[in-house]
Amino acid sequence: MRFPKGGPVTDSTQPAPKPGACHTPAANPKLFSLILSVADALDLISPVAYVASRLSKAAGLSGADLENVVVAALLHDAGGLTLKTKLAALEFEHTHSEHEEYGYKLLKDAPSLGAAATLVRRHHAWWGREAHLPLGCHILHLADRVDSLVDKRRFILDQAADVTEAIAAKSGLMFDPELVELFRAIAGREAFWFDLASPHIGSLVLAELTANEGARNIDLGTDTGLEFSRFIAQLIDFRSRFTATHSSGVAACCVALAGRAGLAARELDLIRVAGYLHDLGKLAVPAELIEKPGKLTDSEMNVMKSHTYLSYHILARVSGLEQVAVWASFHHERLNGTGYPFGKKGAEIPPQARIVAVADIFTALTEDRPYRKAMAPKTAVGLLADMAAAGLIDKDVVGNLAAGLGAIHEARELAQKRAMELYRNFYRLS
Ligand SMILES: [Fe+2]
Ligand SMILES: [Fe+2]
Ligand SMILES: [Fe+2]
Repeated sequence: MRFPKGGPVTDSTQPAPKPGACHTPAANPKLFSLILSVADALDLISPVAYVASRLSKAAGLSGADLENVVVAALLHDAGGLTLKTKLAALEFEHTHSEHEEYGYKLLKDAPSLGAAATLVRRHHAWWGREAHLPLGCHILHLADRVDSLVDKRRFILDQAADVTEAIAAKSGLMFDPELVELFRAIAGREAFWFDLASPHIGSLVLAELTANEGARNIDLGTDTGLEFSRFIAQLIDFRSRFTATHSSGVAACCVALAGRAGLAARELDLIRVAGYLHDLGKLAVPAELIEKPGKLTDSEMNVMKSHTYLSYHILARVSGLEQVAVWASFHHERLNGTGYPFGKKGAEIPPQARIVAVADIFTALTEDRPYRKAMAPKTAVGLLADMAAAGLIDKDVVGNLAAGLGAIHEARELAQKRAMELYRNFYRLS
């Protein structure tokens, strides 16, 4: 797990808007910066993305083509997010391996990621055998190989010549000869190698892409944006059978509760996004912990507590998502200040975040967990009412839940049923 670098390290949350304040937030982040921020939290920003962006530019790619290669480079091993495929990825050879297929299946239906998905599917393809594949595949392969040739224990510049040599030796066989020539030119500068070893590689990749004029914005309040956040929810949830549909359930509850609270249409869409992304930081929590068939130990719980801290920092540094970050990641804060990790209380917790908190608890209680069966909705509401009476969560939100229980529970069930179908389909690999 990696904590955000470069950003603030203390309790650095934005001041929350006053409860009741009608504030329609902007939510038009750059597709790229959102993915970069997620990838950074997952330690997925390897030099692969940096090498891929430099090579793509040298090869004359721009606009969406350039963006696709770099996004594919960032997510190329996203198929290894589950434990099983992670192990397989370690043993990969230059064949069309399972992690490429998982990566492809994961990304192919996400809006704006279709082209990147086809590149991920063949990121270990040999040029000598499959020169006809898109240039992006060959860029990814070369970039990936540079990364694996670098010995992290040696000083970077001491090995520059060896790595360049090893790549050149496979020109025409593993790698596209023209790309090898471009790589030689790039690798001739010391700064390139210092960049590769830099702890700020994420900002370097971002800098490469910010100048890209064809970079796409993504409005999370639109259908595409909602689909996109649902895709990220899949990344989060599919790591465990027990959480496979959790974020979808939370998102559906959020919308139902927000509707009852009279939130405006745009806010309903954005609170759905917050529901999808509320557990984003769990991507950085080891799968063993999420799947543990029993109560977490104190120290495991401490690790688990980092998830909302990470959710906040991943989202808050993406321009346009500052408000959604608060709504999504305050869901373990409690009105009396006893929640985590920021210890916010009362008016510091905006109404939308209070809704996400109730939606999260309600969904968690009414779904199966590794260590217990699902609770009946009425019993769950009873528990929530006790929590509200104890000053932990918002009693009006719990009141709305109780009043609309039948419909809200139905909406949650339906959303989770649909998500379960997608989950089953995802793991049915041919
Ligand atoms: Fe790979
Ligand atoms: Fe959570
Ligand atoms: Fe949750």
